[in-house]
Amino acid sequence: MNDGYLPRLVTAHPALVHFALGTLPLIVLAYAVARARRSERWAFVGDVSTWVTASLSLVAAAFGLASLLALRWPGGVERWRNLHVGFGVAFVLSLVTFAFARARGRGPRPVGNRTLGAALAVGALGVVTGWIGGEQLVFRAGMGVAAAGDGALAPPALPTSTTSAEPTGTKDAMHRVRASWGAIVTTTASMLVDRPQGEGFAAIAREAAAIERASSWLAHEGARSIAPDADMSAPSKGVGGGPPAGEVAVETPRQVFERWSAELGDTARAVREAAEERNIEAVAKTSGRLQTACAGCHDDLRWKRASR
Ligand code: HEC
Repeated sequence: MNDGYLPRLVTAHPALVHFALGTLPLIVLAYAVARARRSERWAFVGDVSTWVTASLSLVAAAFGLASLLALRWPGGVERWRNLHVGFGVAFVLSLVTFAFARARGRGPRPVGNRTLGAALAVGALGVVTGWIGGEQLVFRAGMGVAAAGDGALAPPALPTSTTSAEPTGTKDAMHRVRASWGAIVTTTASMLVDRPQGEGFAAIAREAAAIERASSWLAHEGARSIAPDADMSAPSKGVGGGPPAGEVAVETPRQVFERWSAELGDTARAVREAAEERNIEAVAKTSGRLQTACAGCHDDLRWKRASR
């Protein structure tokens, strides 16, 4: 992380891809004119644009790999990341293959339906890749955007109403909780600096309800994945992990997990009720309290488990 004035490694990729985005229309246009007019000159324009674009796309792809590895991907953003990588690889491979095919043999190569069709197909892959990367990963999720918590505040990848009812595991539940929490935080923030709106309250109520569902799953199913007597330093142990001071009952990690799950669910209900009443002050207060549950449970169970 730097002070914000130096170019960052992770933003080289989104900057470089604009070369390809800028020349794709030129490639398609040049081949279309070359075919219509049987023009060698226009075919040449298309070929040179294709070679330049293919070369620069390889550089952009290399920086894309750097971004992929250097960014921390907050749980729940992987869906769009994987699609972007998949389409990106398909785009670059097909573009490079096309460039080589056009470079084969000597002398000018005529442009027919096949060339134009191939250029259009490659261009379409580029557009889809660019839409996912730009719209979904940067503008919507905020990956690499410091003001968006480097993706931590990304809303759900799919509308909350379309995701299946049951989480598949604790991690999946966390991904849902994080995404819904991100949507609540960003919606509250934009209403605070702009003005409270019905749509915003409705979105907050919907995401809070999603957290309530995930919390009740966590309290019942998720807690079972926490070994009841696992060797985790429960918070109520005494100094240095010794026996608790005095006669305080020691909570097992599973009980700690259940307690925080219940706290998360109760607070989410309070957020939903505040949003349903369109009470912005209560939304601000309760959504702040929501983070207490993340902090408390992660401090007691998630981070303590890893060596710290
Ligand atoms: C009841 C306890 C509990 C609460 C409450 C909780 N978490 Fe977690 N969280 C965990 C545990 C335990 C893990 C580690 C899961 C694992 O690695 O299998 C975790 C992991 C995560 C992860 C990483 C998932 C991954 O892919 O590795 C994210 C993101 C996350 N939590 C977000 C949140 C947010 C945001 C909140 C609050 C709105 C929250 N959590 C509240 C217990 C909790």
